[in-house]
Amino acid sequence: MRMTFTLNGRSRTLDAPPLARLLDILRGPLGLTGTKEGCGEGECGSCTVLLDGVPVNACLVVAGQCDGRTVLTVEGLASMNALSDLQEAFVKEGGAQCGICTPGILMAAHALLAANPQPGEGEIRESIAGNICRCTGYQRIVESIRHAAKEQAAREPG
Ligand code: FES
Ligand code: FES
Repeated sequence: MRMTFTLNGRSRTLDAPPLARLLDILRGPLGLTGTKEGCGEGECGSCTVLLDGVPVNACLVVAGQCDGRTVLTVEGLASMNALSDLQEAFVKEGGAQCGICTPGILMAAHALLAANPQPGEGEIRESIAGNICRCTGYQRIVESIRHAAKEQAAREPG
């Protein structure tokens, strides 16, 4: 099938089998290897991207579901080669270790902060409940997201 969708702010058209996984389309023909494959079966969250602003597992989404829609991957968070505030917060707070889970967690957190700019700790933990991290014990991740929320509030008071 021919699919046209908006990827990281740009319209893209490509031919793909309708049941091709979005994860494979991103990492293969589109060359966006920031989205990681962990389990490949919807359990780990490492492949999380936003589909129309909602976190989804790219290993469970197929090409036919993306036509006409909007996809945001971790490559779309930075602008003009500068990291986003959320990414900077992960650097400052040590929210990443091996980094395999990090792109997926960034996308889940990005969706959270877009919907709820000042989340409580419970809301932060709930937003990343589908993302498994084997390295950090999660506390530094939670601190990173909290730090990004504070920066956001300081920049956009009221
Ligand atoms: S690779 Fe998609 S959820 Fe694990
Ligand atoms: S930083 Fe290694 S799995 Fe999360």
